[in-house]
Amino acid sequence: MSTAQAELQQLDAVIRQCPLCDLSKTRTKAVPGDGPTDAELMFVGEGPGFHEDRQGRPFVGAAGQFLDQMLASIGLERRQVFVTNVVKCRPPNNRDPLPAEIAACAPYLDKQMALINPLVIVTLGRHSMARFFPGEKISAIHGTARVVDGRTVVALYHPAAALHQQSLRATLEEDFRKLPRFIDEAKTRTRQNEQPGSEKPPQQLSLF
Ligand code: URA
Repeated sequence: MSTAQAELQQLDAVIRQCPLCDLSKTRTKAVPGDGPTDAELMFVGEGPGFHEDRQGRPFVGAAGQFLDQMLASIGLERRQVFVTNVVKCRPPNNRDPLPAEIAACAPYLDKQMALINPLVIVTLGRHSMARFFPGEKISAIHGTARVVDGRTVVALYHPAAALHQQSLRATLEEDFRKLPRFIDEAKTRTRQNEQPGSEKPPQQLSLF
C-alpha cells in the first residue's frame, strides 16, 4: 500500500468518527468519499443524502446513477474517479449545509485534495462551487475550466438538479463531455511546469 493510500485510510477513519459539528449527532454514517488515490478526476458534491447516509458511500442514489451514466459517456467508470462532498455527513432532511458545517469539514477536503492530487477537480452544485469560486454564479461559469491555487477546477450543475430540470440535463451532459479535454490540458500544463526553468515565463526566455 502506498503512503497516500495509507494516509487516506487513516483520514477515512478520522472522518467516520468526526465530532466537529452537529451533523455528527444526526448522521447514521459519515461519508468520507470513495476512489483511487491516483485518480485524475475528483468530484466534489454537496453532502450525503438519505441513501449515502445509510451506506456510508457517496452518490449511491439517483444522482449517483446519473453521474455513472455521464462518466460512461466519456469512457470512465466510477472506480476510476474519486468522489466526495464538501460536507461528509448528511444535513437533516437534505437541507443546505450551513457555513459552519462546511468550515468544520473543510480540512478533510483539503487533505483529500493534497493526497490525491487530481489533475482536475469537478464541483457538483453551488456549495462545492463556492469552495473554489466564492461569489460566482453557476449559471455564468458552469462548464469552464479555471486554475485555482495551481489546480484545474471545473464547476458543473449538480446531477440531482439536472434530473429535475430537463434543460439543465442537456447542459450538464454537454459540460461533462468537455472533461476529457480539460484533463488533457491539465496534463500538458503539469508537464510544462515540471520542465527545468519552467518558473520563467516563456516571453522572458525568447528575449535571449
Ligand atoms: N448529492 C450529493 O451532493 N452528494 C452525494 O453524495 C449524494 C447526493
